This record gives sequence, C-alpha cells and structure tokens, in this order.
Amino acid sequence: MNTAASGKTTGHAPAAMRVAVLGAGKMGGILLQAFLRSGLFAPEQITATVAHEVRAKTLSQQYGVTVTTDNVAAAKDADVVLLGVKPQQMGDVVRGIAAGLKPGALLISVAASVKTKAIEEAATGFAVIRAMPNTPAQLGAGITALCRGAHVTDEQMTLAQRIFATVGRTVIVDEKHMDAVTGLSGSGPAFLYIIIEALAEAGVNVGLPRDVATLLAAQTTYGAAKMVLETGSHPALLKDEVTTPAGCTVDGILELEEGGLRVTLIKAVKRATERARELG
Ligand SMILES: NC(=O)c1ccc[n+]([C@@H]2O[C@H](COP(=O)([O-])OP(=O)(O)OC[C@H]3O[C@@H](n4cnc5c(N)ncnc54)[C@H](OP(=O)(O)O)[C@@H]3O)[C@@H](O)[C@H]2O)c1
Repeated sequence: MNTAASGKTTGHAPAAMRVAVLGAGKMGGILLQAFLRSGLFAPEQITATVAHEVRAKTLSQQYGVTVTTDNVAAAKDADVVLLGVKPQQMGDVVRGIAAGLKPGALLISVAASVKTKAIEEAATGFAVIRAMPNTPAQLGAGITALCRGAHVTDEQMTLAQRIFATVGRTVIVDEKHMDAVTGLSGSGPAFLYIIIEALAEAGVNVGLPRDVATLLAAQTTYGAAKMVLETGSHPALLKDEVTTPAGCTVDGILELEEGGLRVTLIKAVKRATERARELG
C-alpha cells in the first residue's frame, strides 16, 4: 500500500507545468479548488472547461482561472489533462482532444467504471491514469485510489499522487480492484452517513437533544477512524479495548450482531462493487 498523509503540503508543481481540468463540475471543481488552496498549481497554470458558457463565466470569476467550453483549446498546451466529465461523455471528450494533445501529456480520469484501455484507445499512445476519489476530498479528507495504464512512467504516478494528495490520502492499486474501490471508498461515505444518522437517531431515542446526539455520533465515527489510521491497530483489537466484561458495550455488540450489521455492510459493498462492474 502506498499512501500520502491527509492534508500534507504537496509543494509546488514546476512553474512551467500546465494542467487542464476538463469537466470542472463537482469532483473537477473540488480538485481545482484544492490545487489553488494547496499552491500545487498557480491560477495561471490551470485552464478548465465545462459544458455551459454561463457556468464557465461564473467559475472563471469564482476561481480566478481561465474557464471555457473549448476542450481542444484547454488541452492543447496541457502537460496534465484531468478528465472530470461523466463516464458516458468520456469517449467523445477524449476523441475530441486526442489529435491536439501535447506529446507526452498525461491523462488522468476520475470517471467511475471507465477503463484505462478505453481512454488509451481514444488517445493512442498517451499515458492514462485512472483515479477514484471520494467526496470527503472537498475537506481534504478524501481517499483516492490510483491505477496506471499501459504507458505510464513512475514519475507520472508520483505526479498523480501529488495531485490527489491535495485532497487527502492516496493509494495505488491494480486496475482490477477499481470497481471494489468504487464500492468501498467511493460509495462508503453514503453508508457511513446512514450509520451516523442512525446513531444520532438512537441518541435522540435515549433522550439526547438532536444536535448533541449528531455531534456525539459524528465525532465518535471520526475518532474511531482516526484511531484505526493512526495506531495501526486492527479494528477488532480497538473494539476489544472498549468492551469491558459484562459491561454496556458488549450488550450493544450482541444487538449489532443479531441485527446483522456486519453482514449487511459486507453485502452493501459487494452490491455496489457489482454495480460499478455492470456500469463499466
Ligand atoms: N461526485 C463524486 O462523488 C465522484 C466521485 C468519484 C468520481 N467521480 C467522477 O467524476 C466525474 C464527474 O462527476 P461529478 O459528480 O463531478 O459530475 P458533474 O458535477 O455533473 O460534473 C461534470 C462536469 O462536466 C461538464 N461537462 C459536461 N460535458 C462536457 C464536455 N463535453 N466538455 C467539458 N465539460 C463537460 C459539466 O459542465 P456543466 O457544469 O456546464 O454542466 C460539469 O461541470 C464522473 O465521471 C464521476 O464518475 C465523481
């Protein structure tokens, strides 16, 4: 496993390097803002595109970078082309820019379920990295899995890690695992929000004010995750530390096991993984 710590400064990319963010929507926009916030790229190094002129104008004013609807113009001088469009638009967008790309340009796609091979076929000979970030990226607390296509160098992989370190941790996996990543860390925030919501509901049920219950549930989830990440201890060992013989927690755990929480979560990730595979 190869990780970069959350929130770490990534340093500046070489000043001559240019990046094009094609499809500066939700995920593309999160990345663009993180580049500026972290200082990895200066505004003059970035060009972005969207589908609608009105949105291009708004984003241009908001971020202080050039935003247009012209993918070919945005991509032609770029050393890194970040592809943030929807999976179904990817083929057309890449075919549209391929002929005008700078030799040696690196393409990085964040599209779920789109294989590196499909992008390589649309832009023959170019290096393609596939990335799967998740939405906590907007707070710098994301996790992005990266996998390499056929023509990617080690330096390009390192650059991709630096790019995604602006929004959290990174991990490198083989492409065969990308659907599983989508099912676990891509969909995972939604599963965990449901758990937090349910814990908060439980707090209200046992008499806590809702805001206090939500805070307790969210900070407890955050703290437990931090313990796993920073102690490196197995989650089962950490659970045992909370569980006193004949105490309260062990009674609660019995309810969780009877209710099938563990099996339900496993099934949820398996189903989301299968769906990612189907969409591909
Ligand atoms: N959201 C997530 O949690 C998440 C997580 C991981 C990966 N992803 C991936 O990120 C990609 C984008 O998802 P999203 O949620 O960010 O969607 P989104 O908010 O709809 O963003 C898509 C953007 O693409 C622009 N666009 C559409 N057609 C275009 C074209 N031909 N040329 C240039 N730009 C074009 C849209 O422009 P307008 O704004 O003008 O319509 C929009 O800004 C998807 O492939 C998805 O699989 C998303």
